[in-house]
Amino acid sequence: MPNNASPRHVHVRTHATRRAAPCAAGTPAASGTAKSPSAGSTPAPESNASSSSAGDVPAGSLPTTLPGPGLLLIKILETRGLVMPNGTAVAPGGSTGKDEQQMPFAIIEMDKMEVLAKAIEGNPNNGVANWQSRANFDISRPCEAVMSIYMPGPNRTDVPLGVCRIRPTFTDQKLEEHWLPLTTMDGKVEPLGEVKVQFVFRLAKNKHLAVEDFELLKVIGKGSFGKVMQVRKKDTGRTYAMKIIKKAHIVERDEVSHTLAERNVLTKLQHPFIVPLKYSFQSAEKLYLVLAFVNGGELFHHLQQEGKFSEDRAKFYTAELLCALECLHSFNIIYRDLKPENILLDYSGHICLCDFGLCKLNMKEGNKTNTFCGTPEYLAPEVLIGQGYTKTVDWWTLGILLYEMLSGLPPFYDENTNVMYKKILQDELRFGDDMSSNAVDLLKKLLNRDGAARLGANGAQEIKSHPFFAEVDWRKLMGRKYAPPFRPNVASATDTSNFDEEFTSEAPTDSLSEGSQLSEAVQQQFQGFTYQATEAIAGSIAAGSMMGAGMGRADVSGSYAPQRQAGGMRNPR
Ligand SMILES: Nc1ncnc2c1ncn2[C@@H]1O[C@H](COP(=O)(O)OP(=O)(O)OP(=O)(O)O)[C@@H](O)[C@H]1O
Ligand SMILES: [Mg+2]
Repeated sequence: MPNNASPRHVHVRTHATRRAAPCAAGTPAASGTAKSPSAGSTPAPESNASSSSAGDVPAGSLPTTLPGPGLLLIKILETRGLVMPNGTAVAPGGSTGKDEQQMPFAIIEMDKMEVLAKAIEGNPNNGVANWQSRANFDISRPCEAVMSIYMPGPNRTDVPLGVCRIRPTFTDQKLEEHWLPLTTMDGKVEPLGEVKVQFVFRLAKNKHLAVEDFELLKVIGKGSFGKVMQVRKKDTGRTYAMKIIKKAHIVERDEVSHTLAERNVLTKLQHPFIVPLKYSFQSAEKLYLVLAFVNGGELFHHLQQEGKFSEDRAKFYTAELLCALECLHSFNIIYRDLKPENILLDYSGHICLCDFGLCKLNMKEGNKTNTFCGTPEYLAPEVLIGQGYTKTVDWWTLGILLYEMLSGLPPFYDENTNVMYKKILQDELRFGDDMSSNAVDLLKKLLNRDGAARLGANGAQEIKSHPFFAEVDWRKLMGRKYAPPFRPNVASATDTSNFDEEFTSEAPTDSLSEGSQLSEAVQQQFQGFTYQATEAIAGSIAAGSMMGAGMGRADVSGSYAPQRQAGGMRNPR
């Protein structure tokens, strides 16, 4: 065990004053820091973690690259033949064709960005509704849009009518127009009506983004690397999270390879439970990652508010995280920093894993690495011992996380870090009376100190097959088709109420770095950081094609529509 409690790359975390900066003091227990991977170096997956639902109606397949970043404009023109869940035909706009309460509306989602669109009038004679409604999306990688159509229900509950997917060709200026059939939220093809959509992709004129293209709104997180800010892209008005990293700091701390790995991992992956990266660029002093703004708050924030979670709720989050980690492992990436601070909830309550700053790439089956890194409470025994570790450290951290969600504290917690390390290596696990026997059994198997015998050592499927997850339909889970057990209180696309006031009360400025004249040789190391939309996505899990259910709020020209209760949406048809 390292005798220094705060080695480099280890994030100090206490429940009272967590999020202290990763400590620069001390030396890592061993070498083995990630090599700086070049763009495109992420190898192909060993197995494809998922595929789209069998019943999906594809509207063409997605290209793997874009000609460049741009804007996608989607226009809903008409709907016809819409059907209520009880089989009766929808009369859009009621008998007059103008009744707002009986007007269908749509939520279009792309890369965790939601836009609300509404029909403007209906024809009572033939059930055709006229929409003429537009939405635009910043595009930096090929992804599909998922359009879910609803009728406003009584007592602000919305009734889901069906869903369709838009898969543009992303050819510059090419206008595409289709009648798309609606499927059930579960992807089954039934005669549920059709929607006529037009869409066009336009390449951005200015391909080189800079911080000046964004309005800085609020600080939402801070670390030794710099800040995370909520920002608005000036041309499209869309809200994002921007992680700003000072180059000088990461050079001093020998974290260049970690930062490049973070950017490379995010560029390569599209997954329903992993934060989407929109852009990355740099200035002479700083690196900028522009990510989807995930505004349901950190799991940490919710755990702090509620003390602990019910077993069903903890199971839901663990299952979604298991899928995200399975995807990373299939691309030979170890995550290494699972903890509630790095797990965000999106507006609907699904998991969104963020912070890929400690990822280790090129970790093929059985490969070992030595870097002493992570967060003390979550360090696996083999990381502490310093004799090398494999992907299975992520299954240990999943066990610690499940334990913390069920009981309120990690199992070996102690205020004194060195005592905590001893406990991690030696102490017996203790379980509360309220934990089910399946939960206890799973925890014992994930928290097996022998990494090679740990559940998951032979792949994520081993964990998925444990009786704790007996009732989980993994395909449905990957499709985000389970209604989340908790819906965060999010009032608008720009709402930051789920973030710490300690940060949000701070003035949002991108400070000038002083005295950080970096040599040409150092600048060279950052060369590959700027995100080219033309890079192929090696790790697409076709997130969009998995989505469709569980949306309850929508963005209307930058501000959210009144919050709708999701009674109807919680039980997708
Ligand atoms: N896409 C996002 N949307 C909303 N909030 C975010 C997003 N990304 C990060 N945050 C917030 O900012 C905090 C800090 O971000 P992050 O975890 O990436 O950095 P860090 O842990 O301080 O840095 P690192 O581990 O890379 O040194 C997160 O815990 C989260 O609260
Ligand atoms: Mg973090």
